[in-house]
Amino acid sequence: GNGARDRLRIAIQKSGRLAEPARALLTACGLSWRESRDRLFCYGESLPVDLLLVRDDDIPGLIRDGVCDLGVVGRNVLLEQDIALKAGGGSEAFREWRPLGFGGCRLAIAVPETWAWQSQAQLAGTRLATSYPAILRQWLDGQGIAAEVVELSGSVEIAPRLGQADAICDLVSSGATLAANQLKPVMTLLESEAVLAGPSSATSGASGLDQATPRQPAFDGIWDDA
Ligand code: PRP
Ligand code: ZN
Ligand code: MG
Repeated sequence: GNGARDRLRIAIQKSGRLAEPARALLTACGLSWRESRDRLFCYGESLPVDLLLVRDDDIPGLIRDGVCDLGVVGRNVLLEQDIALKAGGGSEAFREWRPLGFGGCRLAIAVPETWAWQSQAQLAGTRLATSYPAILRQWLDGQGIAAEVVELSGSVEIAPRLGQADAICDLVSSGATLAANQLKPVMTLLESEAVLAGPSSATSGASGLDQATPRQPAFDGIWDDA
């Protein structure tokens, strides 16, 4: 929770695909901010709501630590860190309050275009490069597929050409990055978009959102893309 603070803090992405739409959404809600020199902390002028401009990957941790009350972040980032925390023995730390209708993409497994794709059983024994090792590992385990997960923080799509992996699991939006790397999507693990996120504890935060029905992220949207 935010303890002694009497102002709400919302974290959004500083730069990247969600940055402008997140700001536009909050502006449309009637919020405005005093311009700060470093542009990392924006003091709310119209309402007691301050903005933190950060890396998207940092947003779940800021929520967990109570540094901010709410965040606008991709479901993919939130779920990855939630699964990783629980795998490490932690309890649920985040909650997806609602999808926001922008930043749509999917987390997909993609294989070289030359592969004749039949089923996910073909992934057994392969090396899969990803920036989402927790989501991928949970999915592989659920499917009973023994594959090696190679964690990369970026440029995942080039890993097969570099010989670091056989296939990948990464975000797909337009599909242009996959096509440029001669890869094709074959399985969707998660449909993602920007979401409003907060702490999971019903008593924490000053958000007043406790009555809302949280959406439970789950692997219920899996299908075969091929
Ligand atoms: C994302 C993602 C893919 C790409 C997919 O990367 O990691 O690489 O976009 O988009 P497309 O299907 O429209 O080509 P992004 O460039 O946002 O940056 P990041 O990987 O550094 O986070
Ligand atoms: Zn990022
Ligand atoms: Mg990328």
